[in-house]
Order: sequence, then structure tokens, then C-alpha cells
Amino acid sequence: METVDEMVGASPAISAVFDLVRKMAKTEMPVLITGETGTGKELTAQAIHERSLRKRGPFVPINCGAIPETLLESELFGHERGAFTGAVQQKKGKLEAADGGTLFLDEVGDLLPALQVKLLRFLQKGTFERVGGQETLHVDARVLAATNVDLKKAIDKNLFREDLYYRLGVLHIHLPPLRDRGEDTLLMAMVFLKQAAVTYRKPIRGYTPQAVGVLRSYSWPGNVRELSNRVRRAVVMADGMEITPHDLDLAGEEPQPVDSLDSLREAHRRIEMELLVKAISLHRGNMTRMARDLKVSRSTLYRKLRAYGLEKFVPTATPLSFGSRTKSKKSKKISPQESGGGISRELTPVDLSLEPAHRIPQSV
Ligand SMILES: Nc1ncnc2c1ncn2[C@@H]1O[C@H](COP(=O)(O)OP(=O)(O)OP(=O)(O)O)[C@@H](O)[C@H]1O
Ligand SMILES: [Mg+2]
Repeated sequence: METVDEMVGASPAISAVFDLVRKMAKTEMPVLITGETGTGKELTAQAIHERSLRKRGPFVPINCGAIPETLLESELFGHERGAFTGAVQQKKGKLEAADGGTLFLDEVGDLLPALQVKLLRFLQKGTFERVGGQETLHVDARVLAATNVDLKKAIDKNLFREDLYYRLGVLHIHLPPLRDRGEDTLLMAMVFLKQAAVTYRKPIRGYTPQAVGVLRSYSWPGNVRELSNRVRRAVVMADGMEITPHDLDLAGEEPQPVDSLDSLREAHRRIEMELLVKAISLHRGNMTRMARDLKVSRSTLYRKLRAYGLEKFVPTATPLSFGSRTKSKKSKKISPQESGGGISRELTPVDLSLEPAHRIPQSV
């Protein structure tokens, strides 16, 4: 399972989410996390847990949509021996497993009404009984919940209890779809590419200009998960040094013109980001050549790279080969200014360290 250190993003939309995560982590209240499929709901729940006072306790996820109705109650609340056919011994549920930590109820909209009542009681009183049990149990678990269905509509159809909705959703985080995160798509595409290049030991330096255009304009219905999967696949498939639309399996996608309804500021950021990613790919992070092409000074270029979270994609001066074990993560990194321009070299895991500004900082 990934750690929250991998939660990447620099756009205003995701920065607002990071801010909510930091604030909500410190409370004991439930948080309802909504968003389309693959937007990072589970990762966000982990991020909240890891920044909470419960971080040393367990983080216990349970997918309410993936477990057959008949088993869900016992999975969640446990059962006593003989509670039903096959219950040969007492079993603790996920809720008890989350004692002292956090229970993450994924796809909470799939909970049946009887279980909604039981969950509501737990949220109000902290008590419940195992299936087939008489004894009232107390557990100290914080509840986080996620859904990609509209719970308000489910309430209208009497499928979800309104009182439970208000109990779960006092604190609410909505994850924007990737298509609304501006330049984050390209930032993530670069991060995932470097990770995959190291994993699969392929010396891939970036994206072709066509691929950059397609990455930017594709609508990403599967959001971050789809982006991560396509990039990983592309790294495996690629024959050249740069990922093409074909490698991404998006060859049929024509780059769309920039949405005319974007604000000037957003359009400016997106175009700048696109040019920087193209320049990094083309010149393999060589600062001198990038600055010459983009007609800016090296210091301006470095400032821009930092502003978009891209400075880590400019190679350092030390030539290294794949999988080098001699350089520790703590060794001094030479800044691009000191390096006199990036020297072409293979990618290493060292490249993967991201500036905290582009992840949720660990400290508040
Ligand atoms: N901001 C992010 N930075 C880096 N990786 C991310 C980010 N958001 C999501 N991911 C990655 O995308 C994938 C999907 O994330 P996650 O499982 O949290 O989404 P989800 O919203 O729970 O999806 P689903 O609705 O399908 O359950 C995971 O591999 C996760 O690590
Ligand atoms: Mg999920």
C-alpha cells in the first residue's frame, strides 16, 4: 500500500484539499471523502490517519461494496461462536481491529439499512454488539468514510439514512477530478514516469511533445489511477527514450485546444507547465539548453521549475548508473546551478525524492 508521501499535487484545487487534510487530521470527528473513481479517496484517508494523534494505531480499511451483504455485518462488527451456520468460533470484526486507530469505510453508500443503524449507534455512543452476541462492546476507533455515489440522491430514494449522512459528513473533503487539477496531470505524469523508470530499469527521459499534449487534454475518466496505470504501461512498452501517445495507448486522442473558459492565469500556468515538461524531456533536464530554448535566464528557469514542483526532474551533476548502491539518500545533492547544467545520466531512486511543498508536509 502506498504511503501518503506519494500524494502529489501543486494545483490550487489539490492544495486546498491538502489544507483540509491537515486541519481535519487533528480532530476525532468522522470525515466523509467524496470524489470520482481513482481520485485518491483511500490515499486521502491514509493521509488523515497518518497526521492524526492515532497514527501509531492501526488503519483498517473495509470495502462495504465488495463484501457480500450476508458477510458484511460479521466482517465489520465480528460474530460470536454459533451466531450462524459456519460460525465455528468467535471472530473480531474490523471495528475491533481498528481500536486505537482509524476505521476506513470505503463505498459507505453500499451499507444496507440495518447496518446503517448499527453504525449510527456506534458513531453516537461508541458501542455495538458482535453478530449473535449479547455483550455490549466499546471500541475507540475514528471513522473515515468514502463514497463515489451521491449520498444525497441515495437519501432521496430512501437508500441511505439522513441522520447517518449528517453524522458522517460533518467534515467533508471532495477530491476534484484530475481534469480539474490543471497542471497536476503533468506533474504526476513526470513523477509516475520516474518511479516506473526506476522500477523497470528503463532510461526514459520524458514525453514527446505530442504525448504532453495528449496527457494534458485527455479527460482521464479513471483519474489518478488511470494516469498511473497508463504511465506504468507506457514505460514498460516504450522502445524509445521518450513516451509517445502510442505507448500511452492514447494514439487515437487528438490534443484538444485549451479550454477558452479557463482564466488567463490558469491558461498561463498550464502552458508554462507544458513547455517546461517538454523542455525537460527534450533536453533531459540540461538547464543550459533548456534556458536557451525557452529564452530565460537559468535562475528564472530554476525558479519556474520550483514553482511547478519540477526541479527534481533536473538531473544533478554526479553521473550515476541504475541501481547504484553507493550513494546514500543523505549524500549532498548538487543544485542545478552548481552543476553547470544537467549531465546526462541514468535515473536513480534518488531522483524520486520530492520537495515537501509538493506533497502534504508531515508537520502541520
Ligand atoms: N495525489 C496523488 N498523488 C499520487 N498518487 C495518487 C494521488 N491520488 C491518487 N493516487 C494514486 O492513484 C491510485 C488511486 O487512488 P485511491 O485508491 O486512493 O483512489 P480512490 O478514490 O479510493 O479510487 P476508487 O474510487 O476507485 O476506490 C492509487 O494508486 C493512489 O496511490
Ligand atoms: Mg478507493
